[in-house]
Parts: sequence; structure tokens; C-alpha cells
Amino acid sequence: MSIRIKPVQSYLSAAFQIVSLALAGATACWAQSSAPAPNAQLAAKALNQKVEALLKQMTLEEKIGQTVQYSAGFATGPSGSKLSYDELVARGAAGSLLNVIGAEHANHYQHIAVEKSRLHIPLLFGDDVIHGDRTTFPVPLGLAASWDPTLIAGVARTAAVEARADGVNWVFSPMVDIARDARWGRIVESAGEDPYLGSALARSWVEGYQQGDLSKPDSVAVSVKHFAAYGAAIAGRDYNATDMSDITLRQVYLPPYHAAVDAGAATLMSSFNSINGVPATANPYTLTQILRKEWHFDGFVVSDWGAVSELLNHSIGPDGATVARKALEAGVDMDMEGNLYATTIAAQVRSGEIPEKVVDEAARRILRVKFALGLFEHPFTPVTPAYAPTAANRAQARAVAAETIVLLKNDPVEGVGALLPLGKAAKTVALIGPLADSAQDMLGSWDAQGEPKFAVTLRQALTERLGGHLLYAPGCGVLSGEDEKTLLEGKPAPDDAASIAEAVEAAKKADVAVLALGESADWMTGEATSRTRLGLPGNQEQLLEAVAATGKPVILVLLTGRPAEIKWAGAHIPAIVEAWFPGMEGGHAVADVLFGDVNPSAKLTVSFPRAVGQEPLYYAQLPTGRPAHGDLSHAPASGPEKYQSRYIDEDNSALFPFGWGLSYTRFSYGQPTVSKAEVGLRDLEAGRGPDLTVAVDVRNAGSVAGTEVVQLYLRNTSASVEQPVRELKGFARVTLQPGESKHVEFPLGFDELSFYNVESKQVVEPTTYKVWVGGSSLATAETSFKVE
Ligand code: NOJ
Repeated sequence: MSIRIKPVQSYLSAAFQIVSLALAGATACWAQSSAPAPNAQLAAKALNQKVEALLKQMTLEEKIGQTVQYSAGFATGPSGSKLSYDELVARGAAGSLLNVIGAEHANHYQHIAVEKSRLHIPLLFGDDVIHGDRTTFPVPLGLAASWDPTLIAGVARTAAVEARADGVNWVFSPMVDIARDARWGRIVESAGEDPYLGSALARSWVEGYQQGDLSKPDSVAVSVKHFAAYGAAIAGRDYNATDMSDITLRQVYLPPYHAAVDAGAATLMSSFNSINGVPATANPYTLTQILRKEWHFDGFVVSDWGAVSELLNHSIGPDGATVARKALEAGVDMDMEGNLYATTIAAQVRSGEIPEKVVDEAARRILRVKFALGLFEHPFTPVTPAYAPTAANRAQARAVAAETIVLLKNDPVEGVGALLPLGKAAKTVALIGPLADSAQDMLGSWDAQGEPKFAVTLRQALTERLGGHLLYAPGCGVLSGEDEKTLLEGKPAPDDAASIAEAVEAAKKADVAVLALGESADWMTGEATSRTRLGLPGNQEQLLEAVAATGKPVILVLLTGRPAEIKWAGAHIPAIVEAWFPGMEGGHAVADVLFGDVNPSAKLTVSFPRAVGQEPLYYAQLPTGRPAHGDLSHAPASGPEKYQSRYIDEDNSALFPFGWGLSYTRFSYGQPTVSKAEVGLRDLEAGRGPDLTVAVDVRNAGSVAGTEVVQLYLRNTSASVEQPVRELKGFARVTLQPGESKHVEFPLGFDELSFYNVESKQVVEPTTYKVWVGGSSLATAETSFKVE
């Protein structure tokens, strides 16, 4: 059996021209553009004729109205507006509302828009549907750990169907920010640290939501966020500035947004951060030069919540009018909750400060998406019965969650062997920990319309399996003890000694203890939840150590939205599972993995640090002149050499690295081969497609069926600009029966072998590539090829 992996993206293949910056208002409109259109629907002539005809009838105020968005529901940012939305919509003074949920609620405003406003222009309804709408799937960081684009497209599909039923035609997803700093709370919303994997998954999110056809009644427009480089917030502090070279911006941070645009994304959301001193929400370089001119994006850009008015705090203008002008001219077409486009743009157009064509262009881009979605023909949402999860919803949520659970460690225990999967010897199980029975935490942050009443906890799932043989003791709270919340609220830290003692007693009565520990999904992960400490919060570490001290075998199930600092557990607990926040069917899925009904196949997409001081920690480091043990390209330093690039008190390497994840079987890798020892530089530059293939045989050397994520890493050993010590450039999920082998091929071409040089040009150069294939970023099976 042979598997040939399709190149996952062509996101880097566009020819980049460096052209002088121009304001958004000066960009050519559709009719004059001969550029390739990533979304053919938005570029279609017939659609644009309708847009132009409508634009001609619109007053300046009506055009500005299209660029305005308010939250007419709950607030997902500071001080939500409290205006008369009925009246604003009737005047055509709002083009979109967010956080309006439910068919009746949406229809209420849509009736006003299409029946009472002068030009009957329908509204866009936006919402944060992030990992499911009603059916809650695992958080995005967990979904990414599946390394399965098809699975993610399926999640997006279900979410889109449910969102449309809820009146939402525009989702603020996917979040494709590269996240390399575990202190940043929003790492949970991301696909992790790698641009290649991030791009592949970004593409599948867009395809799942939009189906390549926005006019289908169950498609939703996406908003790819947060543009750009929001994940690189300095020191992992949310909303903080980012500062990086153009090479890093283009090579590491931009590819997933570009992949999403190439997949036809209808909209993007501009981010809160500044990039090299220029706020992303008023940044002509990213919003116009890169997005419009280089990537030929025809959709529109909405600001993040209040990000236009926050430009005042960024100190790039003396007043609201100035910063609103800067945002609009840079290419932010819609102002989410900033209330500055609504109040300052008209006067500036009248005074000649802002050319009217700038407003026209923003309105044009927004109207294109409305026409493409078919909202003029079908503005309303049919009212359907209240949601209750179907068997199909539950089955999908359970299967998806099981694919996201990472087996971090499964060392044999003396006299018992590997603890997982749990066998017959585990008659009585003590389930311990504050997250063992918390339905709300199973859902994760940004749970949209997910409801805890539909969530299955681990306690429920294990009770179904074990009945009276399950003992349960929470042990402590997630947040009790010396943790952030207690300190911030000035409360005395609760003393959990009594409940820890209870948990210890439960463990003593059991054959094995399962500890469900981690973070509070709501309070400690997601937006505005940066942390300086990454260990188990509160008294959970104390609980873990107390239970381990009983000598009973311990399995640690982590429920976290980020890599946790678990050095003690890594050294002393034999079996560790990372379950993230696994969604509505999370309890069942974790139990499926613990009991071996599902053989785990997920792999980390973020590096787990040994100590928080290593952050930002990621595998694709640039080389140094004084490499140390931990630099993947070099053998451990042989002597006690002081002058190395390392910490004096900790290893450089991750505790669990990118790509890491175990299985209940073992996979063995053959010697990788290349189809050509040398590739012609000119052939690569011609960009006609794959120029060579790396192949490897992978065998299931164990006794149960399993799925391996086969990963291909490259190192460019000599280039005009230094290149990472390893970079992922291919992956494939391969399912193998015991004893079965498969031959896996990875095609490589310009997309995989090019990089950005000091002139910000995407180039290939003569060099030798080292190649590794294996089951993690530590892969050792090696070969090489040359580019000449
Ligand atoms: C702020 C968040 O940064 C963004 O991700 C979200 O989509 C908007 N608020 C709307 O809720």
C-alpha cells in the first residue's frame, strides 16, 4: 500500500511584487483588476455589477452605515454599546450586528433592515462560533492536535449548519494566529506554533465553513483572525505589541492567513496589537500592501472589538476622527463596536479630508460579501425547534474529541506494565480532581451556544463504565490556593488539607487513581488570560503529589488550554494524557482512550516547557553560533563548556516537544529515501509543482491497530538568511493494522523549499537539505538532497 501526500497548500507560490504603498481608497475596483481572485464568487462580474448599481443609489451616510457594526446582544469586549439598534438599522446606519443569537432575534433586525431601511440592504450577523455552535467540539488547540484537516473541515461544517439555524451568517473563525508562547491565554484558540500545519488547518476551516460557495443556505462567511501576528504579543501578555523582522512576519506569522485567503476566506479581522510600531488596525503594509496587492483579497476587513477607538490608546492620532481615518484608509472596512466610523467619517468626507472613494471601496467590499451570501434573496432564518443534541451530533463530537487527546507518557510501572490502556486489573478506580466532574470546563472557552447540561464529564463517563467501582473525590478546587484569582480577589487561600486527605483515602481503596487536573476553561484560558505561572494552579500539585505518595498507580489527565509546566509530574507520574477542553462528549472520549477503545493518535502542536522561563518555546528555532545540548541540529556538547547558548539552570529542550504523542502500539520507520539526490534551482523557480519526493516505509510493530502522524522535517543547511534548525514540511495520518507497513511519499517543491531573503523576496538558493522523517520533531531517520 502506498500513500502519496498531496501538497497541503500553495500559499507561498504567488509571485510577490514589491510595489509602492497606496491607500485602500486608491485601489482599482473589480472591473479594472486582472489579478487572480482567491474567491471567484466575490470577483464575479454579475455580482459586482449588482454591487455597483446599489452603490450608485446610496447616500454617503448609507455607505458609511455599511461599515458600522454593533453588538446588539451580549458584550464580548469592554463597555458594549447601548444604542437603539432598531432605529439605527431602520436608518441604514448599521451594516452588521454581532452577538445576536437565535432565528427570532436575528429575524427581528433583518425585517427592519430589509423592510424599513430605504435601500432594503440585509444585515450580516456575526458571532464567535469557534469550535462549534450548539454541538461543542474540543477547543481549537485540541482540534489541531488531531493533525487532521478532514476532521476539522467536518467540525466547521456542523458548526456552520448550526450557526445558520441560529441566524448567524458570519463566524469569527478560524483563529489562525501562530502561537509560540504558552503564557498567552489565546494559545487555546490557535493551531499552535507551526506555520505549515497552521496553514493546512486554516485552509480546512475555511473550506468547511464556506464550502467554496457562500450562497449555499448552510454556508457561513468566515472571519480569519487576528490579522496580523497577534500571537506574537511580547511576553505573552494579551493585546501587547509585536515586534519582528519582515522575514519572520512573512515566513512564520503570515502563511496561515494567506492560506485562508487562498482558500477563499470572505473576511478577515484586524488585530489589537501593533506590528513594528504600527497598529494592525491602521496598518497599510499588512492591510493593503500584503493583503490586497500581494494576495488579491476581495473580501472585507472588520476591526476587532473597539480596535479602531483603541488606536487613541496606541497614540497614533490626537482624536477619534484622525484614528478612524487612519484605520479606514489603511484598509479596515468595518468598525466593530468602535463607534468612530459612525460618528467621524461623514464630516471628514465632506471637508475633503477623506476621498469619498475610500468609503465607496469599504462599502463595496462589504456589499460583495452580502450578495455572495445570497442575503438579498434569502435574508431570513427559518425558525427551527430548539436544539437538542442528536445521536449523530454526539457521535461526531465523541469521535472528534478522541482524535485530539494526546498520550504524553505511558511508562511501565513495576509489576504492572504500562498503565494504559486500563485493563481488567483496574477493577476499582479512584477519580480525583477538580476537573473530573465540571461540565462547564469540558466545553472550553468561547463555547458559543454550547450548554453545560449537554456535556458529559469524566465522572459521568466512568460511572457508566464502572458503576459502583468508581470512587470520586474532587480533592481541591481548580483555583484554590496560591493562584491568580484568589490573589486578585484578595480572598484568603482555602485550605484544602481535608479534601486532599479524602482523595488520598479514595486512592488507597482503589487499584488505580485517575487525576483530572488543569485550568479553569473560563477563567484561565482564552482572551485576556495571560499567565506568568504555568504550573498546575492552586493546590492541585499538592493533591497530585499526595495521591502519588500512596504508591498507587497514578494516571494524570490534563485539561488545559495551553502547555502546562508539569516537570514534577513528567518525572514521577507514569501515565499522562493531555485532553485539553474536549467538548460536549469529552468525558466519553477520554474514557474511550483510557480504556483502549480508541488508540490515541494525536500529537502536540505546541511545545511543553520544562520551566516557564523557556517561553516562548518552539521547535523551529534559528541556529546560534554557540549551539548547545537542546539545539536539535547538534549532538549534546561533550564537555563542561560554559560559553553555550543555554540556560544554566535548565535544558533548552521541551519536556514534550512539538509533534509528540504516543500510541498503544509502536511504529517503526525505515530509511527515508529521496527521488532525486539533486534538484535543479531553475526547475524549482519555475514553480511547476513537486520537484522531488521523500519516501519512507512506516510499520506498525505492535500488536494493536493504530494511526501514526508521519512528519517530515527539513533543514536548509546553507542560505543567505539563516534558516530554522528544523521545519515541518509534510505530514500524513496513516492507519496501520498490527504488522502492516505503508509506503508514504511527501512531494516537495518551491512552496516547501523557498524562504524570504533580506529583500523580503521569496527565493530558493543552492544548498543541501537535511531531511528527517518520524513521529515527532525529534525524528531521527535521516537523508538529504541538494539544490543546485
Ligand atoms: C474580541 C476578540 O479578540 C475576537 O476574537 C472576537 O471575535 C471579538 N471580540 C468579537 O467577540
